[in-house]
Amino acid sequence: MFRNAIVRLPSENFADGLTSGKLGKPTYRKALEQHAAYSVALQRCGLELLALPPDSQHPDSTFVEDPAIVTSRSAILTRPGATSRQGEVPGIREALARFFREFHQIEPPGTLDGGDICEAENRFFIGLSQRTNEEGARQLAEFLARDGFTSSIVDIRGIRSVLHLKSGIAYIGENHLVTMEAMADLPHFRNYVRIRVKPEESYAANCVRVNDFVLLPAGRPHVEAALKERGYKTVPLDISEFEKMDGGLSCLSLRF
Ligand code: GLY
Repeated sequence: MFRNAIVRLPSENFADGLTSGKLGKPTYRKALEQHAAYSVALQRCGLELLALPPDSQHPDSTFVEDPAIVTSRSAILTRPGATSRQGEVPGIREALARFFREFHQIEPPGTLDGGDICEAENRFFIGLSQRTNEEGARQLAEFLARDGFTSSIVDIRGIRSVLHLKSGIAYIGENHLVTMEAMADLPHFRNYVRIRVKPEESYAANCVRVNDFVLLPAGRPHVEAALKERGYKTVPLDISEFEKMDGGLSCLSLRF
């Protein structure tokens, strides 16, 4: 069960953040509305929300999942792979200090984005990506092992269509993974029940289990139907403006 979530409001210059830009420029007002609806959804799932103020020094800072990883035992501060995002870490540390006493920190030359880390009960999948390097993955695996978790490294550098590991897979409990086709047959995932996402709905592979619900991007009817068929209660959310900035549902909050 999660009890808390941290989010950060998008800043006015949110559209200046990093993006592959395939979907056009986001509208700030719409992003604020979508962020508000996302925040309400988290609260309806039973979470107490800490909403951090916008940080215009860091236009990508609304994607709070990347500068930290939180487990049931500790908080790990990352060293984001994009240099423009490395300054997001102190602000997240300050917010997490209300909840965690113990911190680990990824150190140079390691780089790691929280979006590359997928927790599946006591096992963590660590994606090697455009943002997370071998050294970052090694350091994280060591911190997790110290805390009693196992981990395995999943190299997704050959899958150019995704930014992060969690752009392509989500663990939703009960041994179920939601996965994009390109990741579904990776050997790491063979012991899971896999809900395969068709290429046209691939963005919905980034969905999030929050207590009794699965939040997923709106307008992906096949994924939603597959989740419902397996008994999951779904909450579709329109996050089109964040998709334009290569962000997903999971990146918009830290849940613990
Ligand atoms: N815009 C999110 C990222 O590239 O990190």
